[in-house]
Amino acid sequence: MASSSSSFGTTLSVFLLVLVGMASAQLSSTYYNTSCPNALSTIKSAVDSAVDSESRMGASLLRLQFHDCFVNGCDASVLLDDTSTFTGEKTAAPNNGSIRGFDVIDTIKSNVESICPGVVSCADIVVVAARDSVVALGGPSWTVQLGRRDSTTASLSTANSDIPAPTLNLSGLISSFSNKGFTAKEMVALSGAHTIGQARCTNFRARIYNETNIDSTFASSLQSNCPSTGSDNNLSPLDTTSPTTFDNAYYTNLVNNKGLLHSDQQLYNGGSTDSQVSTYSTSSSTFLTDFANGMVKMGNLSPLTGTSGEIRTNCRKTN
Ligand code: HEM
Ligand SMILES: *[C@@H]1O[C@H](CO)[C@@H](O)[C@H](O)[C@H]1NC(C)=O
Ligand SMILES: *[C@@H]1O[C@H](CO)[C@@H](O)[C@H](O)[C@H]1NC(C)=O
Ligand SMILES: *[C@@H]1O[C@H](CO)[C@@H](O)[C@H](O)[C@H]1NC(C)=O
Ligand SMILES: *[C@@H]1O[C@H](CO)[C@@H](O)[C@H](O)[C@H]1NC(C)=O
Repeated sequence: MASSSSSFGTTLSVFLLVLVGMASAQLSSTYYNTSCPNALSTIKSAVDSAVDSESRMGASLLRLQFHDCFVNGCDASVLLDDTSTFTGEKTAAPNNGSIRGFDVIDTIKSNVESICPGVVSCADIVVVAARDSVVALGGPSWTVQLGRRDSTTASLSTANSDIPAPTLNLSGLISSFSNKGFTAKEMVALSGAHTIGQARCTNFRARIYNETNIDSTFASSLQSNCPSTGSDNNLSPLDTTSPTTFDNAYYTNLVNNKGLLHSDQQLYNGGSTDSQVSTYSTSSSTFLTDFANGMVKMGNLSPLTGTSGEIRTNCRKTN
């Protein structure tokens, strides 16, 4: 009995592994070639025009992929609005008052619905828009895998537990990414996303008033816009040098003790990731290649495929 149940367990495990393998194998870069040949160009046009009118939007759309994929996979769960009977992820601590770009996603969805109704998932739109945003701000391109479907659920508690907080130390950052299958090296490369975009005073106040591994001129320069109390939502750039260009300046800043978030500076604070930060600070091409590879891997986290999930008509609600 024991042996039969263990062999059943083994068979089941192999079966599940095959299923997991198939789920990602079903994604394909040519998924929409016949069903919606203009899908990618339609998404790119909308991203380019959104980033043209507000460069920060490129950062916001990039972050959407991260906050979607780290919570039950890349399934557009982050896009679902709360209703009286449904609680989504938008009020989770890492998202509340912070995550943005939903209007742009709505515009993209409406544009693709008008050319190919019911074909292109919100989950695919998020990963394509993230790639196009990075390209629009001067960063690397990569081939996006497609064919994800949209969830009918979301998880506020997983958004709270699985998206890393800026208060984490290096080992916390490493384990947060390790929980999703990433190496420490991939975590350092993906953190380079903070070469664009903005953070709120509430997320870096303790660092600019109380930390010692920070350039003192840099810390002082941030204090007028981020007083020791109040003005929680005042913004400062994550990359003080070139906040709207996707380059390797994030790492140069870290080497100079000019990381904005506590978590940023953890990557260069005398620990195991210092040498990688140094390498990226002097070799832009190494960073850009590693970042692109990390984004492809992130985009492959637990996609819904086949008959799982649905193709939402409106990215903000289930069908
Ligand atoms: C390594 C762990 C990470 C932590 C602790 C972290 C934390 C944060 C925090 C606290 C903010 C500012 C939010 C606010 O104040 O409103 C932020 C912004 C941002 N994050 Fe991260 N993040 C991490 C990794 C990533 C990754 C992997 C990506 C994408 C690949 C990413 C992309 C962004 C972008 C682009 C912004 C700026 C968004 C905007 O301006 O709208 N972050 N992050
Ligand atoms: C799919 O479409 C893209 C973009 O139009 C094109 O570059 C690619 O060659 C096509 N691939 C196939 C297999 O049809
Ligand atoms: C989200 O932010 C709003 C506005 O700042 C605040 O009123 C609300 O209490 C926050 N919700 C949660 C769950 O933190
Ligand atoms: C990192 O943070 C965790 C959790 O707060 C703590 O247990 C650990 O001791 C810290 N590690 C270091 C090296 O400071
Ligand atoms: C700085 O640290 C002190 C002592 O722990 C604390 O009382 C104060 O609130 C901290 N200030 C900020 C802005 O975090």
